[in-house]
Amino acid sequence: MKSFGYRAWLQPVAEGTKAQLGFLPKLAGLKGIASEEFVHGLDTRFGKKPSEDGDYTITLELAEKLPPEGYTLRGDLSGLTVSGGSEKGLLYGVYGLLSRLSLGEPVETMNVKEVPAVARRVLNHWDNADGSIERGYAGRSFFFKNGRIGYDLERLKDYARLLASVGINEISVNNVNVYPDSAQLITEEGLPDLAKVAEVFRPFGIRIIVAVHFDSPAILGGLETSDPTVPAVAKYWEDAAKRVYKHIPDLAGFLMKADSEFRSGPAALGLTQDAGANVIAKALEPFGGTIYWRCFIYNCKQDWRDKTIDRPKAAYNEFFPLDGKFAPNVILQVKHGPSDFQVREPNSPLLGAMTQTPQGLEFQISQEYTGQQIDLYATAVQWEEILDTPVTESCMTRDLVGREVTAMVAVSNTGNDDNWTGHLLAQANLYAFGRLAWNPALSAEQLMRDWVALTFGTDPAIVEPIANMLLESRWVYEKYNSPLGLGWMVNISHHYGPSPEGYEYMKWGTYHRATHTAIGVDRTTHGTEYTAQYHHYVRDLYENKKTCPEKLLLFFHRLPYNYKLKSGQTLLQYIYDTHFEGVEDVKRFIATWETLNGKIPQEAYEAVRDRLTRQLENAREWRDVINNYFYRLSGIADEKGRKIYA
Ligand code: GCU
Repeated sequence: MKSFGYRAWLQPVAEGTKAQLGFLPKLAGLKGIASEEFVHGLDTRFGKKPSEDGDYTITLELAEKLPPEGYTLRGDLSGLTVSGGSEKGLLYGVYGLLSRLSLGEPVETMNVKEVPAVARRVLNHWDNADGSIERGYAGRSFFFKNGRIGYDLERLKDYARLLASVGINEISVNNVNVYPDSAQLITEEGLPDLAKVAEVFRPFGIRIIVAVHFDSPAILGGLETSDPTVPAVAKYWEDAAKRVYKHIPDLAGFLMKADSEFRSGPAALGLTQDAGANVIAKALEPFGGTIYWRCFIYNCKQDWRDKTIDRPKAAYNEFFPLDGKFAPNVILQVKHGPSDFQVREPNSPLLGAMTQTPQGLEFQISQEYTGQQIDLYATAVQWEEILDTPVTESCMTRDLVGREVTAMVAVSNTGNDDNWTGHLLAQANLYAFGRLAWNPALSAEQLMRDWVALTFGTDPAIVEPIANMLLESRWVYEKYNSPLGLGWMVNISHHYGPSPEGYEYMKWGTYHRATHTAIGVDRTTHGTEYTAQYHHYVRDLYENKKTCPEKLLLFFHRLPYNYKLKSGQTLLQYIYDTHFEGVEDVKRFIATWETLNGKIPQEAYEAVRDRLTRQLENAREWRDVINNYFYRLSGIADEKGRKIYA
């Protein structure tokens, strides 16, 4: 019997809930993966098998008028028809139906049409061939072992089902930081193994992407250079594409991290990024492949004394001038913010600026800076805010999805832990990403409620408290983290726990420059001019301290500690208050969770309680270190006289 955590959101429905299936299904129509998955889902979720004697007919059919991945669910008293634009659409239809049944929706009135907003809904795994996972917090890799592909077939298949059930249709399996052993994946030696992985995911409509090394022509091809302008290098990539597609004919494409964090790339050779991307694009083009080219490029060897460089400006400076110069099968993969997956940062100025180049909007489900799957953090809340951010006065970031944004991408939070994500409630983040990529108009609230109900059952006495905790969790975490968009006050390298000056004198370009009177970097047109990278509407919003969203104040402005916020609090008092509150909020989370004792599986209850206890420890650490830091610098006491360990 698989454990509760392992089954994730594909749980059997709870006895006695409104989600119990009120009929015996009879299955008709097309046979194939969709019907197999329907039978599997009925069995595992409701303990029922379709029967010839069934009293309600579910028909599976193809409908050419629908887009390939789209589906409809039309039910009445006599039966329900699932129509898919292709077998894949039908599969999504079956998963959609099963979820609705689990949530207790009546079949007779079901009338649903679903079409994904973007064609590419992508998960990037940062798994290394040695089995470790970069920024992984849920155990070791389930793709790799001892330097090569190695997996448990059943687990991989169950994973494919989980991903497909929320609409994910492309995955990269190896880390964007490609080390020599995973570089091998595109050789005759590595490909048979990778092809086997592709085989597991294929029936579920999921295609494989492989992260490649920019220096492959030299490392693997024995060439003297990997300079993409050299004909032999272009030839290397053409041969590589031919080889890869021979083994995996439906490969989605390659993924490249170039010129970033000690990786080689076109810039290191004095070229622009298009020079590299287009050569690989040309090689992939005959096979319908795509090259995902990451925009996470900045100077990671900065001298902290040098104030002429401002890291958040880097990606835009590198890529914006190249808009229109990329081959059509290049997708520029842009991190949502200009820093690096911080708890609070503005959106990347590249979003909306490049009108001639398809982009992939990159999120991080893995909680690198947001609690590492020890602290509770519903990423969907942050994503909703990101999508709700204006690009111009008449365009929101959400409006770009399906236009310039042709791929929604996220770094996975999964690993070999039995429950996939370490923190059981972090499953909500994987679930939410898939559904949000399919439909970016879905609210975080809807996503969290659905996830809780699918996982723990539809009883409101369970759904309400857990969904509310999730919805609050982002703000609670932010309260005790680095304040007001500053970011980076984390312990260096591993990024868990506070260290206010950990990165202050480092080469990574992430400085807050606190003195005894003020903190922050002026990124306005009077400062580093970062704001000038935005459309003038957004620029003006951020430029002005009065219109800048307060939670981003210290990202854009350098301010004195006695600066008055709209609430009337000083900046410093706000920092003290939020840090004290954050700890109390986590205590409240624990108290709320304890009300669920006996109402949810004990295994789940205890596992989450354990994480919340560790979170409380972390929140305390953050509160005391951050408050102490600011008190020592400023000499200004907390107005409310609370304990600051100075
Ligand atoms: C962050 C992260 C790295 C990762 C990088 C990336 O900097 O800390 O581990 O490699 O992002 O997105 O490429």
